[in-house]
Amino acid sequence: MATRTQSRQSNRSSSSRSRGENENRSSSRGNGNRSAFSWGESAGPIIAAAIGGAAIGLAANFGRKALMQGMEATIGDWDEILAAEHDMALAIFDKMLATDETQTFKRKMLLMKLTHALDKHAHAEEMIVYPALREDDQAGDADNLESEHGYIKTFIYELNEMGPDARNWLEKVREFRQLVYEHAHMEEEQVFPEFKRDMTEEQNARITSLVNRDGFWMS
Ligand SMILES: [Fe+2]
Ligand SMILES: [Fe+2]
Repeated sequence: MATRTQSRQSNRSSSSRSRGENENRSSSRGNGNRSAFSWGESAGPIIAAAIGGAAIGLAANFGRKALMQGMEATIGDWDEILAAEHDMALAIFDKMLATDETQTFKRKMLLMKLTHALDKHAHAEEMIVYPALREDDQAGDADNLESEHGYIKTFIYELNEMGPDARNWLEKVREFRQLVYEHAHMEEEQVFPEFKRDMTEEQNARITSLVNRDGFWMS
């Protein structure tokens, strides 16, 4: 049995803050009683640029969201998204296993990439899929899978502690991969199909949408 874990930052636009600042600046210009924070005469182009920047930021954000919505229709259901992420993580493991002890930088980079991928994946499962499983009377499965996520984090901790040139690095990675492989297999072959069989189309679409949204903000 195996899974993943990860966390990330959302890259929200700062446009609302920019708008607020611009409004304050306009009012201080209007009352003729400038404070130390008021703009000089040459501020016009700067404000215009700031507003333009905010607009571009908003457009980019809406563009990404529209793209995500479009992708929901093409990527597949929540379980297919998670299975694809399992495959991606296993592929990173294979790259790690192809390194030798002189490739310390590559090992470090691959471990960072794996940590990020597993974090993002586990976030979606722990915040959406496992809670939904518990609501569907599969609390035992959800609890077992979530506790395995804890052991996945433990492997990451141990690999970071031992360093990329440790003699048993490959052995540890091999053991780690096996855990993730078995966990993913349990999810893909047993738990998720059983859960999906009981779902209505609406529930399936809802979970898919939530998983997509989580992936978007965690990217
Ligand atoms: Fe998992
Ligand atoms: Fe998983």
